This record gives sequence, structure tokens and C-alpha cells, in this order.
Amino acid sequence: MKREKVIIDTDAGIDDAMALFFALESEELDILGITSVFGNTYVKNSTRNILAVLAAAGRQDIQVYEGSGSPIARALAPRSGAFHGDDGLGGVADQLPRPYATASSIPAAQFIAERIMAEPGEITVACLGPVTNLALALRLNPDIAEYAQRIVLLGGAIAIPGNATPIAEANFFNDPESAKIVCGASWNVELVGLNVTTRIEMTAAYVERLCSKKNKATDFIAKTIPFYQRAYASHHGMLDSVYCHDATLIAYLIEPRLFRVEKMPIHVQTEASAAGMAIRDDKHYWSDSSVASVCVEVSGDSVLTLFGQRVGRMNV
Ligand code: BDR
Ligand code: CA
Repeated sequence: MKREKVIIDTDAGIDDAMALFFALESEELDILGITSVFGNTYVKNSTRNILAVLAAAGRQDIQVYEGSGSPIARALAPRSGAFHGDDGLGGVADQLPRPYATASSIPAAQFIAERIMAEPGEITVACLGPVTNLALALRLNPDIAEYAQRIVLLGGAIAIPGNATPIAEANFFNDPESAKIVCGASWNVELVGLNVTTRIEMTAAYVERLCSKKNKATDFIAKTIPFYQRAYASHHGMLDSVYCHDATLIAYLIEPRLFRVEKMPIHVQTEASAAGMAIRDDKHYWSDSSVASVCVEVSGDSVLTLFGQRVGRMNV
């Protein structure tokens, strides 16, 4: 099996941690490094949370690179902590395995740019948070747009409501200018957005079954997910389930047949109250719209089955 060489870029909140365990349990992926970014929490927390996942998984072989603490072209808004807690992990980061390593001194954007150039046509970058590090990597070396193998983003809500504003998905909303830069570069961007992630509801019963399969990953999830579940209940009125957005992207990497993908021109808005909105622009109304491959349908039950098999090593 040819393993996909992937750099995972993450804002290391609760669903990001679930996605990281999923990726770590998936032989199809050769994880070259994990880069942190602000988003669900401040970047220092994000870095620490990645290191905690790696400590829990016993994977000191994977290096972590700290990335940007703020958007590329605007000031950082205070992080709310509403869905992921002030520490990004539901307020229980100090009860989780202690990181036994620190991040590299090489900044995330530099690592991404150098690694893509070192293996032309080989490297996939999978972003689970705002795409600031990727935009900075493009600024460091615009040639990476020709040399990356795949750019897969958790981002966008095409013609459906957003989750950060009524029209914008959170990762694009958190850094709209970077989303515009990355979607507008000459590589083909693949978008795994709310169009598919909100089709997959992880119920409380599923989580209970998952966490009854005791291992380091499920122990971690059992500690962190209650905060996320309470947030979904109070903010979304979802009393019995949560979306595990970022795990959906990992499923797309390892089992793309579970998704239907459509190519379409996408325009990312950066202005005022529309910031972070991704619009399908079939008629190229805007000259700077770029074609992306957008996940539009998913076999949600199959994603949950795959996640359970890998993370819980179980049949659900
Ligand atoms: C995305 O925003 C973040 O809160 C989640 O971790 C996910 O990456 C969903 O819009
Ligand atoms: Ca995320």
C-alpha cells in the first residue's frame, strides 16, 4: 500500500483531537508532522493539545511545529471557548497525558514550504483549522502551489448556513484573507465543509459505545467530549449528538469513496459581515473565483463505522 504523506495542520480543539487519533490509527497515512494554528483556542494551547494527543498515542516520532497565533491580515479576536473550552480541550487539558516533547523551533509555515519542496508531487497538506500557516507558506515560497500533491481543507459552507456567522464556516471565518489566498492559488483545493460534516451526527449512544472500548484514545475522548456535547446542547439545541467535523476530513483522505465530490468555482468573501463566506460562483461573476473540488455528499454511517473501527477498534 502506498501511504499518503501528509502534514496535518490543526487548531487542536476537541474534534481536532478526535481527528488526530483517527489519523494516527490509519495506516493509509504517513504523518510527516503536525502544525498548530490559532482557531478553536490560542496557538500555544493548540500546540500543547497536539503534544498531549501524541503523548497519549505514544507517538514521539512525530514532530510538532508551532504556527500562527493570529490571522494573516487582521487582529486576533479573543477566543470564546464556547465549544472547546478555554484550553481548547473542554477545560481538562491538565487531566490528560502530559506532553513529553516540545514543538520544533522551526515555524509551521517554513516546515510546510520546505517539506513540499523537498518532495515535489508527494505531499498532502490537510488543514483542520484556519489556513493561515498555508497562506504564510505560500508567501514564503509561491512555488509550493505547483509542487504540493493535495491541499485538503476543512472549510466552507456552500449555499447552506454557516456555524460562525449565519453564512460563514468557522475556519474560513477565523481567517478569511488566508482562505481567499489558499483557495485562489494555482493548486486544486479540496474542500470538506459543513455540507458534509453536518450530515454526520455522532450520538451520545455512539460515544458511549466508543468509550466503552477502553484505550488511550477513547480515554482522551471520554474526558474531553462532555464539554463539546454540552455546548452543542446549549448553543445548537442538539441534545443528543455532535458533529465531529475534522474526523470527516480524515475519513475523506482514507476512504474517498464515501464522498461525492463536485468541481465548482468558489469565491471567498473577506468583506465586513460576509467575511469567511464561501460562495459557489458558477458563472464566474467574480474574476478571482477559483475552481475547487467540494465534498457535497457523504455516507455518514460509513464514516462513523470507520471512525469507530479505527479509534475504538470496534464494530459499531
Ligand atoms: C471547524 O471549526 C472548528 O471549530 C472545528 O474544529 C472545525 O475544524 C468547523 O467549522
Ligand atoms: Ca478544527
